[in-house]
Amino acid sequence: MKTIHTVADMQGLRRELSGNIGLVPTMGFLHKGHISLAKRARAENDLVIATIFVNPTQFGPNEDLAAYPRDLPRDLSLLENAGVDFVFVPTPDELYPPGFQTWVELDDLPQRLEGAHRPGHFRGVATIVTKLFNLTRPTRAYFGQKDAQQAVVIRRFTRDLNFDIDIVICPTVREPDGLAMSSRNIYLNPKERQAATVLFRALSTAQAAFSDGERDADRLRTMMQGILATEPLARPDYVSLADAETLAELSGQIEGRALASMAVRVGPARLIDNMILN
Ligand code: PAF
Repeated sequence: MKTIHTVADMQGLRRELSGNIGLVPTMGFLHKGHISLAKRARAENDLVIATIFVNPTQFGPNEDLAAYPRDLPRDLSLLENAGVDFVFVPTPDELYPPGFQTWVELDDLPQRLEGAHRPGHFRGVATIVTKLFNLTRPTRAYFGQKDAQQAVVIRRFTRDLNFDIDIVICPTVREPDGLAMSSRNIYLNPKERQAATVLFRALSTAQAAFSDGERDADRLRTMMQGILATEPLARPDYVSLADAETLAELSGQIEGRALASMAVRVGPARLIDNMILN
């Protein structure tokens, strides 16, 4: 596995590569969810490029950029074991040099869910992913369903900007007790870690009710809020039952695919999770 640090080296390398390329963008501090993306990319492509970059432009002023967990040696060894060929590990100055002023912004999707609580977040995500697409020109790019809104945003701007890239969204990988794997789980102490399972319980309850025929969006949302309220350490930012494509909040009868999602603060961590009701 070869590690690349600069834009010039990444561009030079890409000019030499041929065949199908799978891209796995990450912010590092990898867990089994990331590794599942890398393994799927390995199985479906001739070459795999992973990226590790804690993207400053998707963090708000009060968010955990400086404290975001990092462990590059461990990440590199995990990626190598997953069969990744190249890892791009740029510095912030490489990707955002002085004078940088070009952004990728979407109209409606970022106004909803996570975007409504994290102004500017999806502008940062869309811009960095566009830059990584341009630098690596992949055939396929792999992202996790855990970041459901991010997946919808990336699919949208890939179509809108005519990137010839298949966006592959892989299932959320969970701990045995249902907690979605996340680099942010490291912030939880043992009591908070136990409390954090309430997100999975709330979502599973909504999914079970939906499977049993419940189609009223408001009742499903109330059901999830009720479960979260049983956990004193859980402080919800939002609980949503939305259209899975437009992310518009639903009320009354659900017709198509719906996205049940939530962001919940537990101790110092802000956790997100979701399930598609189909
Ligand atoms: O999902 C993430 O880890 C990040 O948002 C991404 C896609 C790597 C962009 O920084």
